[in-house]
Amino acid sequence: MKKILRIALLCVLFGSLVLPIFAGGAQDKGIEKKVGVLMPTRSLQRWNQDGDYLKTKLEAQGYEVDLQYANNQVATQVSQLENMVTAGSKILVVASIDSTALKGALAEAAKAGCVIIAYDRLLMDTPNCDYYATFDNYKVGTLQGTFIVEKLGLKDGKGPYNLEVFGGSPDDNNAYLFNQGAMDQLQPYIDKGQLVINSGQTEMSVIAIQAWKPEGSQARMDNLLTAFYADKKVDVVLSPNDSLAQGIVASLKSAGYGTAAKPFPVLTGQDCDRINVKMMINGEQSMSVFKDTRTLAERVVTMVTELGEGKPVTVNDTESYDNNVKVVPSFLCDPVFADANNYKALLIDTGYYTMDEIQ
Ligand code: BGC
Repeated sequence: MKKILRIALLCVLFGSLVLPIFAGGAQDKGIEKKVGVLMPTRSLQRWNQDGDYLKTKLEAQGYEVDLQYANNQVATQVSQLENMVTAGSKILVVASIDSTALKGALAEAAKAGCVIIAYDRLLMDTPNCDYYATFDNYKVGTLQGTFIVEKLGLKDGKGPYNLEVFGGSPDDNNAYLFNQGAMDQLQPYIDKGQLVINSGQTEMSVIAIQAWKPEGSQARMDNLLTAFYADKKVDVVLSPNDSLAQGIVASLKSAGYGTAAKPFPVLTGQDCDRINVKMMINGEQSMSVFKDTRTLAERVVTMVTELGEGKPVTVNDTESYDNNVKVVPSFLCDPVFADANNYKALLIDTGYYTMDEIQ
């Protein structure tokens, strides 16, 4: 009899504590339909778009959305996360500033019964990361690297060309994957002497730019040009994203690049930010990688809805993303190559931008 009572008690507890997070009926009470969305900063165009899309799409599914930006301040993001948990969000979508700094707050969130989805950037060194939705970060780097190989005719033995390499923010796990993807393509030509890095700087500890700031890449490019290119030209610059490409172009312009005698180097990027699409049209940047934020937001809305309905969450990769504690079940979206020739089809025809926005 005692056993039956115990089982009955457990069933009641399970019904009232666990099911409401997932079951549609319980969601109608409101609080369980609250989703916390944490974004790193408003200073980069993409995160504004990511946040807006997520909010609009989740609200259309009946979720209440608490969307917060942390101005790239780690302490701010920690307290935003804590406050969301206190205010009753049961699903957290987190685009972190620092991949490891949230682990204490995430442990508390997990204790409070939250499900945690890492958005675009993996949450490292924590068991409390349930799912990861991103673009294939290694492939982003591969697209940049293969573009350089093809553009310079390296497979045909052309060169030598002067190359400099930039890295993303050292606290962002993505930065290492972009770098790896690109360098795997470029390294054979560095080894053969077809690509020459006059600064000799290739280690992430030296080439990384904190917080992906254009001011940071501008300052480093200024230093490289002064120290290593007083009597030669830089022919190609690997920039992992668009914000860094902006700083690099500002530096190149002030050093007199952009003329027939001193053309802009081949320059990569990522995100297809509006400013950078203009730069591609003007011949200042050679390519970018397009990661349609609508696709990623849509994927996360699907994950949230699946969780809300108690269904298994759809993932397409259960091997690649080890956060040092576990392999996080992930959904990888496909990044695509963009340049001045195909941007109309990719960005205008699909309604991502209007022509006015990039002119
Ligand atoms: C994102 C990039 C972005 C960069 C800077 C990375 O984690 O994947 O799309 O350009 O952060 O915000």
